[in-house]
Amino acid sequence: MTLTPLGLDPTLCFIGGAWVRSSASTCLALINPSDGSALCEIACGSENDVDRAVQAATSALQGEWGKATAAERGRVLAKIGQGVLANVEELTQLEAMDVGKPLKQARADVIALARYMEFYAGACDKVHGETIPYLEGYTVYTLREPHGVTGHIIPWNYPMQIIGRSVGAALAMGNATVLKPAEEACLTALAFAEIARRAGLPDGALNVVPGLGAEAGAALTRHPGVHHVSFTGSVGVGKLIQETTARNVVPVTLELGGKSPQLVFDDADIDAALPFLVNAGIQNAGQTCSAASRILVQRGVYARVVAQMGKRYDGFRVGPALEDLDLGPLISARQKSIVEGYLAQADGLEVVGKGRIVADAPTNGAYVAPTLFAGVRADHVLAQEEIFGPVQVIIPFDTEEEAVQIANGTDFGLVAAVWSQNGARQMRLAKQLRAGQVFLNNYGAGGGVELPFGGTGLSGHGREKGFEALYGFSTLKTVAAFHG
Ligand code: NAI
Ligand code: MG
Repeated sequence: MTLTPLGLDPTLCFIGGAWVRSSASTCLALINPSDGSALCEIACGSENDVDRAVQAATSALQGEWGKATAAERGRVLAKIGQGVLANVEELTQLEAMDVGKPLKQARADVIALARYMEFYAGACDKVHGETIPYLEGYTVYTLREPHGVTGHIIPWNYPMQIIGRSVGAALAMGNATVLKPAEEACLTALAFAEIARRAGLPDGALNVVPGLGAEAGAALTRHPGVHHVSFTGSVGVGKLIQETTARNVVPVTLELGGKSPQLVFDDADIDAALPFLVNAGIQNAGQTCSAASRILVQRGVYARVVAQMGKRYDGFRVGPALEDLDLGPLISARQKSIVEGYLAQADGLEVVGKGRIVADAPTNGAYVAPTLFAGVRADHVLAQEEIFGPVQVIIPFDTEEEAVQIANGTDFGLVAAVWSQNGARQMRLAKQLRAGQVFLNNYGAGGGVELPFGGTGLSGHGREKGFEALYGFSTLKTVAAFHG
């Protein structure tokens, strides 16, 4: 299958600036989750392919890419961003078919990818070291240098956004990158490589090896030529990657999802909050690391919030990505069965809103109707574990202290939001909530390419996005000169 107009052959890997055949004899089938059909075949990258990619990246660091100035890196990243914008519709279609995202959500991801390239293009030549006052006769300064070869293992839920935030920042700092996209969705990663090639990114600065996690992903993680690994995905695989990279004493950034709460107080502007409360649950059919899967509501407004959220849920329609409804399918039949497994544990919980799957949705699509539960105990499995599907739980509370205790009462700590008009409470809770990002009277701040992002606890560690990511994708050298 050739994917026009970028003319991609998705069975190939992108290594050393060229499209090459995998050394593996078999390919993987890529499924369209909207109808369960086979979309195309993709490469099943092998240990050998990963090794070739790491070697190509190593050579890039010794060649044109390694010698590029910060300003030159910025210029090529800017061109990649322009290439992304020139292919908005192509990328939107690919992502909608591959991931099952409704078109408008897929298009928003393309725009976000372009924004990451623009942001990191502009940031390349603005990362400075410091001079440090020291003993008589010394001049001391610091240099920010690339790690070297960076590995990027990304999931299927937001391929373009995660490429933007991790590969974009790594390239900005002069690293040479090897990207292992998810086996469930990798077409936009391949398209991105072709766009980067056409923009003139030097050979080997970006390499893409699709394949299975346990094969290509694991090979990349343990490769001795890799100097940093960035991973977004499940907690279990995140732990495995940290163990493996520990053997090579290589730093990792882990973004492992969450169980993020929004806290709604009696004095909140409920009308302003409502779209954020529900969208943060159903966006991308709930398959979002920062999904607000727990809504904590104070008793005085509880009945109103439950009723109004439920009403919105009742209006949601689910169907094929190309029909561009409120929700598309989940990524796979497997993900659907994981989510249905959680719904089967909802026995006795009160359903206060439920969307519907449109009548013409193909029966082999991975559809799940969005479901809102109320009156849920904070320790219920649906209020504790990441479901990664269109399911939200509403938990009532009485006092601010109780709200903080419930909010912080999971193993995760990615994102949290406070809805209240009380400024002192906003400031108190911003400090007390255990999360990498806290939103006051909003949720997600529109995506926020500029805003550092990452978690604590089982949500992981390290920060991507914003300027902060540039520190994570570089290492600091201290130079002390004695001149008398
Ligand atoms: P996963 O963690 O298995 O997959 C994410 C990436 O890791 C993929 O590229 C995969 O190929 C790779 N991978 C898998 N095993 C690997 C290994 N041994 N070594 C190196 N790389 C490996 O996640 P999966 O199975 O797709 O989803 C399961 C659950 O994980 C979801 O239900 C959700 O709860 C969570 N998840 C969280 C995400 C987030 O954004 N934080 C994204 C995707 C999944
Ligand atoms: Mg997996």
